[in-house]
Amino acid sequence: MCGIVGYVGYRDALDVVVDALRRMEYRGYDSAGVAILDGNGSIAVERKAGRLANLEAELAETGHFAGAAGTGHTRWATHGAPTDRNAHPHRDPSGKFAVVHNGIIENFAPLRRELEDAGIELLSDTDTEVAVHLVARAYAEGPTAGDFTGSVLSVLQRLEGAFTLVFTHADHPGTIVAARQSTPLVVGVGDGEMFVASDVTAFIEYTREAVELGQNQAVVITADGYTVTDFFGNTAGVVSRPFTIDWDLAAAEKGGHDYFMLKEIEEQPTAIADTLIGHFVVDEQGGRIVLDEQRLTDQELREFDKVFVVACGSSYHAGLLAKYAIEHWTRVPVEVELASEFRYRDPVLDRSTLVVAISQSGETADTLEAVRHAKEQKARVLAICNTNGAQIPREADAVIYTRTGPEIGVASTKAFLAQIAANYLVGLALAQARGTKYPDEVAREFAELESMPALISRVLESAPKVRAIARELAHVPTVLFLGRHVGYPVALEGALKLKELAYLHAEGFAAGELKHGPIALIEDGLPVIVVMPSPKGRAVLHSKLLSNIREIQARGARTIVIAEEGDDTVRPFADDLIEIPAVPTLYQPLLSTVPLQIFAAEIAQTLGYDVDKPRNLAKSVTVE
Ligand code: M6R
Repeated sequence: MCGIVGYVGYRDALDVVVDALRRMEYRGYDSAGVAILDGNGSIAVERKAGRLANLEAELAETGHFAGAAGTGHTRWATHGAPTDRNAHPHRDPSGKFAVVHNGIIENFAPLRRELEDAGIELLSDTDTEVAVHLVARAYAEGPTAGDFTGSVLSVLQRLEGAFTLVFTHADHPGTIVAARQSTPLVVGVGDGEMFVASDVTAFIEYTREAVELGQNQAVVITADGYTVTDFFGNTAGVVSRPFTIDWDLAAAEKGGHDYFMLKEIEEQPTAIADTLIGHFVVDEQGGRIVLDEQRLTDQELREFDKVFVVACGSSYHAGLLAKYAIEHWTRVPVEVELASEFRYRDPVLDRSTLVVAISQSGETADTLEAVRHAKEQKARVLAICNTNGAQIPREADAVIYTRTGPEIGVASTKAFLAQIAANYLVGLALAQARGTKYPDEVAREFAELESMPALISRVLESAPKVRAIARELAHVPTVLFLGRHVGYPVALEGALKLKELAYLHAEGFAAGELKHGPIALIEDGLPVIVVMPSPKGRAVLHSKLLSNIREIQARGARTIVIAEEGDDTVRPFADDLIEIPAVPTLYQPLLSTVPLQIFAAEIAQTLGYDVDKPRNLAKSVTVE
């Protein structure tokens, strides 16, 4: 997740900006840069791939950039590899404009073509660079010529996607123009100085007065004040939210939570929305799914006769869900395998096999070795990854990035949900290429995915109830999780979360397997969490699971049931009921997983454990 800062005031801008970037390091980044306005018509820019220390070393060599205004950026790569060339700020050819950006400009391809047709040479692979060239052109000629703010606004009206953009112009050293659409931007209000930033950690040292911008708003800051408008320059009806920051720095980084994981659970609606951006492009046929780095042709997607999914831990559970979707939509057989087992059993792979490797970090040794084995056997590899430039996407033939920003908590939450969404994109891309789904059906499934962020937000509202149940159960020795069909991987994921965070014995079962052994574990008061399928879509499964609940209740289990809103048949069998919105079967895991994450985190906190750093675990496991 990129970090952005802009400053106008009386202090040394370079110091302010570099300090702010240091405080936003927790957001994760792979390159950093600054632009400082000297007040005499020039902007000095420095940018470097890698850690902030690399940028600081470069700055130490170039000499201090003096000035009282500037911008800074830490980049979490999306379009284009994490290199010096792609690092922000980006400039126009005159060197007068500079821009920093967080997010994705979805329509950058036609805009880039328009600029290239006009003879402009783009120097990076980023989507960002188009914005600065367009603003420079609007400033050079036409109705907004010579008008800095007007030029920026005219370009904002043309951009699609999710973005925070901050522009500076060398001849306007006292003014910064910024804007947001979907991604965050806060204004810091100082005395004789003003800030804009991705989050308040950037300026908390200087001021505690802040203003949160609304959607599709622009802000112009000078040392003495700020003006918020819509993208057309109107102030009427434009509402922004002033607030006073009462967190310390550590709490501010965690969005006011005690742990990053809790913040990451809350970020899930945004994580899904961002992961979907740009993956559905409207065309004459109604629209089509596109992958990120699509190095597989439609012809290749048509020729695969088998799919393997390889992954570890939570990513493996997301992979199990891929099987349901891909087989259902494409009728291509899918095997899901733990990456650590895959290459040791000599799987049958060849040119017509697609291997989908899922990894949040993109560095997990087991998954990486599975990818290498698949490639040696001539299979084609598609990676689903959260980290641009990591080894697995580098070695893969195609990539879909889960754009959740960095996941700092060791327990995977937002990356897991985003992996499910990405799996479904793979399924839809295959179905579209193979013609097993009509374009309007693909569009409908994509619309279901797009509806998920709002529904996940609704599930998050049930957190107080889930936490109360968790606190009551914090001292039990064992918790069992049951599910069927897509509810089964959710049960496995719920159990994994509880094991890794609360160090409790937890097991996930396919509910139908109960009677083949695990039912012997049931005893008086044993908590069993049941993920109920919809009574509509899979009525047979629903009634089978009701029977399973009856069996365990009869043996004294305490049943905690996650069920669809309005599913009254389940009420008599639920000692505790957690309701989630009704959605088509395949999409339910995106909702039913969320209470299980909250449950595990709350038990761990009640027991006094560090939720972000569970014992014995590492965020990325780079040994086999
Ligand atoms: O980075 P990866 O997705 O490859 O990591 C795989 C597992 O190590 C990871 O999902 C692990 O199971 C998490 N801690 C689960 O919360």
